Amino acid sequence: MTMPENIPLDSDDLDYLYELYHKNLAPLVAESALEPTASTPHHASEPVSKTYQRAETVPLAETAESTFLSRLRQRASYTDATERRPITDTELATLLAYSYGEIRETEGGEPRRPVASGGACYPLELYPVVVDSLDVEAGMYHFNAQDGTLERLAAGDYSEWLGTSWTWLTDTDAVSAVVVITAAPERAAAKYDELGYLFAGIETGAVIQNLQLVATELGIGSRPHNGLDYRAVRRKLRLRSDEYLMSSVVFAGSTPGGRE
Ligand SMILES: Cc1cc2nc3c(=O)[nH]c(=O)nc-3n(C[C@H](O)[C@H](O)[C@H](O)COP(=O)(O)O)c2cc1C
Repeated sequence: MTMPENIPLDSDDLDYLYELYHKNLAPLVAESALEPTASTPHHASEPVSKTYQRAETVPLAETAESTFLSRLRQRASYTDATERRPITDTELATLLAYSYGEIRETEGGEPRRPVASGGACYPLELYPVVVDSLDVEAGMYHFNAQDGTLERLAAGDYSEWLGTSWTWLTDTDAVSAVVVITAAPERAAAKYDELGYLFAGIETGAVIQNLQLVATELGIGSRPHNGLDYRAVRRKLRLRSDEYLMSSVVFAGSTPGGRE
């Protein structure tokens, strides 16, 4: 394709074209795949991981041991989180700051977060929904990572809404909070084009892991949930078309198996 010669392409025009391109990209996942289903499809069982049967086997040494490694070993998603365990304001702050907050600076004074991020673009957003806390008002919030604050989007009891929009939550799950993770891949795509979308997915996994590890450290039960009504959640959060719903982590009960 050749560019028409008489159209001046200054940076505003380029920005506009660029935005138009990204707004018209197909959704990250087809709508049909996002429909909530009550059961998981059964596929023929496949090997859990790859093996090279004809290759020589080289045994690995015993692993090192430390408090951190022991926490890592304890990370598990709750299966039975029926015991009420309200979340405190310190715990919520710790979960957010140590999963995606600005917790340090480079020597040049640039803010950095607990996850690696392609080009330090940080394309994700975190939305805590607080259900059961003695010192944080119930409601839906946005985590402002730059300021380290919460922005209240709506106050109120969201427990019933969580029960209907999250496929696998039942009345017996003692949910204290949920953190919804979204991505504005444009922030990374400005530097990496379409790879920005891949990077947003990669970063979401790192944030999920941090949320679960910090929850383990604090003695809070956690479980990632993608079984949800995407449309209902997008609507409730009033997400624009260029902000994707990536995942969520539900906090309920105490750390499975207790802490060592
Ligand atoms: C992206 C993602 C989505 C998940 N979605 C759900 C879900 O919708 N419902 C659920 O009960 N568990 C969900 N899980 C939890 C997994 O079932 C769980 O991590 C897996 O069984 C391994 O167990 P572990 O986390 O205790 O090691 C999800 C996990 C991930 C990483």
